[in-house]
Amino acid sequence: MKITDEQLISAAISARETAYAPYSGFRVGAAIACSDGEIYTGCNVENSAYGECMCAERVALFGAVSHGTRSFSAIAVAGGGDAGISGGSPPCGACRQVMSEFCKDGLRILVVTSNDGDCREYALGELLPEAFSASDLQA
Ligand code: THU
Repeated sequence: MKITDEQLISAAISARETAYAPYSGFRVGAAIACSDGEIYTGCNVENSAYGECMCAERVALFGAVSHGTRSFSAIAVAGGGDAGISGGSPPCGACRQVMSEFCKDGLRILVVTSNDGDCREYALGELLPEAFSASDLQA
């Protein structure tokens, strides 16, 4: 069954509730829509060794990939501090690069901008043009 944007956004907002963010206080939830109709979610998971923090988007994507999924249509991201979802937190550069390994340029990225589920939409190719890819490894 087709996953609606509303379902995906709502899953990202819910996933944010379990964020482990005691250091930054910035809680992020992500939900990725798979072509087989599944949704995988993730939240950011921080660490006292700050460099080991992991973003919500990669937790969601790696969860899907580790379950054997390789085809994605959209990802929703909801981030913000204690007051709730901020004006929108687009995926960081590292997450964009990781998305580009598995997702086409047309992957829809829904950046949630309010607790009501409003969003701004981008395409991955717009946020990460000229991504480094497997084809660049050719000698
Ligand atoms: N964070 C994400 O989860 N996703 C992003 O794309 C950017 C940042 C997290 C990492 C860290 O736990 C907190 O937000 C503040 O940077």
